[in-house]
Amino acid sequence: MINLESQDINNHKIEELEKVEALKNIFPEAFEDGKLNIKKFKNLLFDIKDEKAEHYSFNWNGKQECYKIIKQKSNATLKLDSSHSELDSKSNSNVFIEGDNLEVLKLLQTSYHKKIKMIYIDPPYNKDKDFVYSDTWGDTITNYLIQTDQLREEGYTSTKTSSTGRRHTNWLNMIYPRLWLSRNLLKDDGVIFVSIDDDEVHNLRKVMDEIYGEENFVGQFPRITKKAGKSSNELAVNHDYILAYSKNSEILLNSFEHTDENFKHSDEYENERGLYKLNQTLDYGSIQYSPSLDYEIELENKIFIPGNATKEEMKERQKRNPKSDFCWRWSKELFKFGLENGFIVVKGNRIYTKTYQNATISKGINGYFVDLQPRTKSATTLDLLDNKFSNDNSKKDLSKIFDKTVFDYSKPVDLIKYLVFLGTTENDIILDFFAGSGTTAHAVMAQNLEDGGNRKYILVQLPETTEENSEAYKAGYKKISDITKERIKRVIKKLDYKDGFKSYRLDSSNFQVFKELKKRPNDSFEDIMKMLKMSVFTENILTQGAKYIDIVYEVALKNGFSLSAKSQEIKTPKYSFIRLYEETRVFMFCFDKEIQTDIQEFIPEGAKLICFDKALSDSTKLNLRENLDLETL
Ligand SMILES: C[S@@+](CC[C@H](N)C(=O)[O-])C[C@H]1O[C@@H](n2cnc3c(N)ncnc32)[C@H](O)[C@@H]1O
Repeated sequence: MINLESQDINNHKIEELEKVEALKNIFPEAFEDGKLNIKKFKNLLFDIKDEKAEHYSFNWNGKQECYKIIKQKSNATLKLDSSHSELDSKSNSNVFIEGDNLEVLKLLQTSYHKKIKMIYIDPPYNKDKDFVYSDTWGDTITNYLIQTDQLREEGYTSTKTSSTGRRHTNWLNMIYPRLWLSRNLLKDDGVIFVSIDDDEVHNLRKVMDEIYGEENFVGQFPRITKKAGKSSNELAVNHDYILAYSKNSEILLNSFEHTDENFKHSDEYENERGLYKLNQTLDYGSIQYSPSLDYEIELENKIFIPGNATKEEMKERQKRNPKSDFCWRWSKELFKFGLENGFIVVKGNRIYTKTYQNATISKGINGYFVDLQPRTKSATTLDLLDNKFSNDNSKKDLSKIFDKTVFDYSKPVDLIKYLVFLGTTENDIILDFFAGSGTTAHAVMAQNLEDGGNRKYILVQLPETTEENSEAYKAGYKKISDITKERIKRVIKKLDYKDGFKSYRLDSSNFQVFKELKKRPNDSFEDIMKMLKMSVFTENILTQGAKYIDIVYEVALKNGFSLSAKSQEIKTPKYSFIRLYEETRVFMFCFDKEIQTDIQEFIPEGAKLICFDKALSDSTKLNLRENLDLETL
């Protein structure tokens, strides 16, 4: 049977995780790098005297429920929204998804397992005004439709009021399962950046330590939010943070090109070594002294001695062998190499060494050589204090795209561009599942244009309704997701960007089995499926009004195709197909009511045929199974 269940996390894995989690709570000392050390554990067991011994753990009301939420399979699907996709461009590997990110993350578990290089999220900071999505157990899709006001006509209303007593708890219950699920999507060398401020930074650190492991903490960047100005509080808080964690500690962040206006001199080596600066003398007064670095140099008919000492002073110094004093920075051997290779300059009575932009002297097994590599500088946690990363700039960025203030909480393009540069290279995929106005898509496009990269983005945004008196609502954007899509479209046009994007929307499954499961929660998925297939009507397997193209994408996603997989309609005199393909993988869907063995002529080698069970007689089914890969609905 073709797989129709979301492959999120298998039960076995979750149960194991819950047990390990329980053990970790009781014996945190027995865990090293998140793994149980059996030996330590045994020792601890035999040494236990006080059973109520204090232990370090992070708990809140609802944490166990979070595991249930993680474990619950999604009964939803993603439907292609062609009217909002920008499909005319050459490539459409970029993706926008309208929906609750928890369900979406579950649906991405199979197709994007270890495919994402960088995640950036900017979740609600948990201010009073923030809408914090509330997950439920059971009928998650109805809960989604209610919370996003999509079931308003049926008498439901969304509850946006925050229950203040459980503020941190609600926020933790929202963020924990999402972070947990998103980690599965990261590549082994992937990195996640999360924006947050003082309200939840301490909780987020703890959650991230738990999910990602303390050893994978990369850093906590303070970011300037605004320049110091008037404040009604005693203390103006003008920064928030970006927390960075890696999937495992071997991650490498990219370094920046070293730009320094002091690189201004040129010589005959400029083409390969770049410009050079001359700010280092060969001798130095307060370095660790060594008599072997205290020697005479004869150059341009002059004798040079470190610190311009006399010969006698040098001899006396060598005998004294002080801890620190004037000596050369380079050994005799290195000096000889530097001199022969143009690294030495004499100015007055001092010797200087050249520092080139793209060259250093390195030592290999065959001695010294000129190492030609651009000089780079690593990121520092203070980088984001530059005003270009402040919210003043995010407002300016948005005003260049929309003439009204349609979104108040966007981040500056430069900020996310900086993170994209740091965490990704050419063909990586970047995921943002709290997309807001879509700054991440903007930043990925801008970074690609700057360095010729081909990075892709996946953005997820809830169709959160805009306030009726807001500029956004008045400008026709009834949902935040409308703003996101419109911004991406406008940026593509403005930057004349090479790629478009596919737009999807979270919706209930096209398969009746999930509706039946809601009515009969004690029956298994397989039993209900069998019962549906027994019906005399072929289409009973589907929900009313299900479109074939939506079924194709639902099956695709649950069977590991990515959201950029392509589809094509094929009509032959006898059969109609939808061909779904990605790289070398091909699924041929045929929704015809009657199928004979001659269908095999149209199925390319290695492709899978998917059709209704009812469309095949028993003998046809047997025959086809012998000759090709067949799955029935
Ligand atoms: C602070 S904003 C992100 C702003 C974004 N970084 C930008 O530059 O525009 C957080 C966004 O997350 C969205 N959001 C909240 N809960 C969500 C959920 N469960 N699923 C998807 N999006 C959600 C909110 O609607 C809001 O637009």
